[in-house]
Amino acid sequence: MDFFTRICILSLLSVISIQLISADPNTFNVQDYGAVGDQKTDDSWAFLKAWNATCSATTGTATMIIPKGKTFLVYPITFWGPCKSTTVYVTLSGTVKAPEDPSAWKDHDVGKWLEFQGINGLNIDGYGQLDGSGQKWWDQSCKLNPGKGGCTKLAPTVLGFRECKNVNMSHIFVISSPQTHILVLGGENVYLKDLTIRSPGTSPNTDGIHISHSNNVLVDGSFIESGDDCVSIGDASMNIHVSYCECELGHGVSIGSLGRSGNEVLVENITVEHVNFNQTSNGGRIKTWQVGRGQVRNVEFSYLNFTNVQNPIIIDQYYCDVAHNPIIIDQYYCDVAHACKGTKTGVKISDVRYIKAFGTSTTPVAINLNCSNIVPCTGITFEDVQLESASSNGQVTSSCNNAFGNTKGIIKPNSCLK
Ligand SMILES: *[C@@H]1O[C@H](CO)[C@@H](O)[C@H](O)[C@H]1NC(C)=O
Ligand SMILES: *[C@@H]1O[C@H](CO)[C@@H](O)[C@H](O)[C@H]1NC(C)=O
Ligand SMILES: *[C@@H]1O[C@H](CO)[C@@H](O)[C@H](O)[C@H]1NC(C)=O
Ligand SMILES: *[C@@H]1O[C@H](CO)[C@@H](O)[C@H](O)[C@H]1NC(C)=O
Ligand SMILES: *[C@@H]1O[C@H](CO)[C@@H](O)[C@H](O)[C@H]1NC(C)=O
Ligand SMILES: *[C@@H]1O[C@H](CO)[C@@H](O)[C@H](O)[C@H]1NC(C)=O
Repeated sequence: MDFFTRICILSLLSVISIQLISADPNTFNVQDYGAVGDQKTDDSWAFLKAWNATCSATTGTATMIIPKGKTFLVYPITFWGPCKSTTVYVTLSGTVKAPEDPSAWKDHDVGKWLEFQGINGLNIDGYGQLDGSGQKWWDQSCKLNPGKGGCTKLAPTVLGFRECKNVNMSHIFVISSPQTHILVLGGENVYLKDLTIRSPGTSPNTDGIHISHSNNVLVDGSFIESGDDCVSIGDASMNIHVSYCECELGHGVSIGSLGRSGNEVLVENITVEHVNFNQTSNGGRIKTWQVGRGQVRNVEFSYLNFTNVQNPIIIDQYYCDVAHNPIIIDQYYCDVAHACKGTKTGVKISDVRYIKAFGTSTTPVAINLNCSNIVPCTGITFEDVQLESASSNGQVTSSCNNAFGNTKGIIKPNSCLK
């Protein structure tokens, strides 16, 4: 076969394979629905049309494709389910970018940018990026401009999963979120793996991943740098696992805040393991409002590394940060005066284990269990916990209020559990 024949056959083969791909009845490329990807054209409508086609495909699987090498400008939209196929794949390989100007949300819910709602069987992968264009939102946030007219308390979440089941998302970059990066609300079997989430440590209220009213959620192998909680776990959350993550800057992994509106809460079966905290304000934190009721139980923090963390281990049942936490993700009305001054009840915290936690604290109180005087913390366990001061000649201590439990192995600073 001479050279030209070979080239001919090769190009013929590639033409055939390209046709095979684009003719595949199960794949829906946003460009085939008019998306331009030049960063300027509004591609929202094309995305919705491609989603509609994907979601209504009657094949077993259907794939929406957002191709590599392009940046698609997309306004706030919701990808609605339920879908007809058993699993919908989204191959996100390009960049999807939010409008930079908050005025783009004029006729939309300012809490959302992209959202998947009511889908059972969703798989998102592809090494692409969601860019929330957060800068202008941060600049006008009430947190950074307290008391200033026109400041905003609520800003869009980059990606929400609302009432979704059986979701896998991996290898996606989520950057520059106006507020929460990823929200899982009312989810079941949601696996978030190998994600990179990144916003400046100074960006206000930019939680990495917020989970609430959900059962069986896994956050694994992810790097999260942000200005608020790395992962936060809200009310009605069960069987939540955070493993092999890096939390940089921001506020660490938080259970709470819970019970702000005096509501009954239930959070149980939470594990946080193999997590490195680097320059975060907290490591493993549980925070509840004094007016809350209900339970947090069976929580295990294990294999944690702390590098220059302000409060490596902290339970705060006297949480009352009204000025700095204006956002309301829970759907409960928050009466600020009531939240701090109403009848104190207390959320019961029990069976919390800290196992193999090592590293440095930048404040003198490395372990701070400030539990409710109405419902004490019980069944707290420390096993092989060794924390030291981040400064070479500094000392650290532990502080307990109404905290009961046991220790095993070497505990430094000395345990103050009763
Ligand atoms: C998507 O489908 C829904 C319901 O079938 C319809 O109301 C909507 O107009 C469709 N949107 C687009 C962009 O095709
Ligand atoms: C998600 O991944 C798990 C394996 O990790 C697999 O069993 C499951 O079928 C996947 N679900 C979807 C919707 O792709
Ligand atoms: C929490 O874990 C316990 C023990 O594994 C289990 O019996 C219980 O059903 C779990 N709770 C929920 C709500 O899944
Ligand atoms: C914690 O740090 C130690 C020493 O720096 C390292 O050997 C270990 O692998 C780290 N643990 C994790 C979970 O990364
Ligand atoms: C902490 O983060 C800094 C960058 O901010 C990095 O240089 C350093 O290696 C990180 N340390 C650990 C232990 O991950
Ligand atoms: C415990 O909480 C109370 C009430 O907010 C506060 O005054 C006290 O300083 C806290 N203790 C520690 C050790 O942080």
